[in-house]
Amino acid sequence: MYLVLHREENMETTFSTPQSYIDEFNPLDYFQTYYALGQGALFGEWTNFALRNLHETFAPGCVEGDTLIDFGTGPSIYQLLSACEVFNNIITSDFLEQNHIELQKWLRKDPNALDWTPFIKFVWCDLEGNRNNYEEKAEKLRSKVKQVLKCDALKSNPFEPLVLPPADCLLTCLCLEAACKDKESYCNVLKNFKNLIKPGGHLLALSMLNGTYYNVGNKRFFALTLTKKDLEMAFKEAGYEIKKITFTPRNDTSRMDLSNYDCQYYVHARKPK
Ligand SMILES: C[S@@+](CC[C@H](N)C(=O)[O-])C[C@H]1O[C@@H](n2cnc3c(N)ncnc32)[C@H](O)[C@@H]1O
Repeated sequence: MYLVLHREENMETTFSTPQSYIDEFNPLDYFQTYYALGQGALFGEWTNFALRNLHETFAPGCVEGDTLIDFGTGPSIYQLLSACEVFNNIITSDFLEQNHIELQKWLRKDPNALDWTPFIKFVWCDLEGNRNNYEEKAEKLRSKVKQVLKCDALKSNPFEPLVLPPADCLLTCLCLEAACKDKESYCNVLKNFKNLIKPGGHLLALSMLNGTYYNVGNKRFFALTLTKKDLEMAFKEAGYEIKKITFTPRNDTSRMDLSNYDCQYYVHARKPK
C-alpha cells in the first residue's frame, strides 16, 4: 500500500488546460475535499497559516485602501474575512462560471450555499477577539463584495474586455500554481498584474511550494512546482519590491494523496511608485 501511494505521489501530472477546468472542476467537491469542517485537507494547517497572515496584513495602519481585487477566488470566501475590515470595495474573480455561481449563493444567503462558518468564527472570535454575533462579520463581508468577475490569468489583461481601474491591493490564494504551466508563465502573470495595481499598491500571494498536483473529487489537477528560490526570483524579475516573504513547512502529511506540496508561502510585495 505504502509503495503504491508513494509512486503515485511522484508521478508527473500534465498541465490542466482552461478547458479541463471548465469541464472538471467541481466547486462542491473542492469545498468538501479541502474546507469541510474538521475533515477538509486544508482545514487547520493551511487555513490557520493564511488567516493569521492576512489578519496581520490587514491590521489598521498596514495594508489598506479603497479597492481590493481577489484573483482566482474560486468558490471561497475565507481569504477575504480580514480584508473586509479595511477595504470598502472588494472585487472577486475567477475563471469559472461554476465558481461564480457558488460564491453568489453565499453572497445572497442561499440556504444551499457553502458553509464557511468555522472560518468566519475563527477570524471574528479567535483573531479579532469578539464574542458572539459572528453573523455580523459575514454581513460585513457580503456588503463589501461589489463585483464577481470573470478573469483569465493567461491573458495580458486578465479581465478582458473590461479594463479595471488600478486597485490598492491584489490578493491571490492558491491560484497561480493552478493557472500557470511553467515558471515563465508565472512570472508573466505577475508582470501583467502590475497593470491592475496602483503605483505603490500591494500584491499579496499565498500558496504552496514543491507540489505537482491537487485532487478535486476524483479529478486530478496540475500544480506548478515552485521552490523558494523560484518564487523570489519571479517577484524580483517581475519588478516588485518584496516587503515580506514567509515560508512554513507542511507538518500534516496525512493527505499527500490529495495534494503533494511540502511548504506554504506568503508574499507581500509592492509595485514601485
Ligand atoms: C485551488 S483553487 C483556489 C481557489 C481559492 N482561491 C482558494 O483559496 O480556495 C484554484 C482556482 O484557480 C482558478 N483558475 C484556474 N485557471 C485559471 C486561470 N487561467 N485564470 C484564473 N483563474 C484560474 C480555478 O478556477 C480555481 O478556482
